[in-house]
Amino acid sequence: RQSPIIAPSILSADFARLGEEVDQVIAAGADWVHFDVMDNHYVPNLTIGPMVCEALRKHGVTAPIDVHLMVEPVDELAQMFAKAGASLISFHPEASRHVDRSLQAIRAAGCKTGLVFNPATPLDVLRYVMDKVDMVLLMSVNPGFGGQSFIPAALDKLREVRALIDASGHEIRLEIDGGVKADNIGAIAAAGADTFVAGSAIFGASDYQATIRAMRDAIAE
Ligand code: DX5
Ligand code: ZN
Repeated sequence: RQSPIIAPSILSADFARLGEEVDQVIAAGADWVHFDVMDNHYVPNLTIGPMVCEALRKHGVTAPIDVHLMVEPVDELAQMFAKAGASLISFHPEASRHVDRSLQAIRAAGCKTGLVFNPATPLDVLRYVMDKVDMVLLMSVNPGFGGQSFIPAALDKLREVRALIDASGHEIRLEIDGGVKADNIGAIAAAGADTFVAGSAIFGASDYQATIRAMRDAIAE
């Protein structure tokens, strides 16, 4: 199993002080920055684009930036994010007409790839592209908003994807996104996740370091 990664979602950060917020969570022990991109089309909300990613790099952020595209179509924005300094780019397969091509284009642009599955989206495309995917991102809420509650059926889906990844022999991270908190992260890790997005649970806390430490402790148990 790959070492656990904590990826705070900046969706719940104070956007008026974004650079400072990112510096603070990284100093508090976070591994990655989870960057939620919403287009008011694929999801009913609108957030931030490649310019903000580039601004974080210019600000001096060196941690991996984990871009979660909730946009349709995928390809053009994926290329823009690669140029803007993204490290990983994940997209929802139903938002791309040619999933295999989108994955290849992201790798060709020098980024790691991720495929995202909503709570009720079947996993069937995954088996055809296991060699082109660096991460599977399972949504444990319906995408579009922070602060929703974890959908328990995601635990069974995590076990299912964990078995697929292990059987594939590929090195693929398994990321979970939505409603992750210190009190459920242990069960989520036990179900097979190794990469944990948390937005409101981290940015809504007064002490980022204590929250991230509590999460790591619960994962290790
Ligand atoms: C939801 C986003 C998540 C969200 C998670 O569409 O993909 O990354 O920010 O927020 P919490 O951790 O508050 O559920
Ligand atoms: Zn996300």
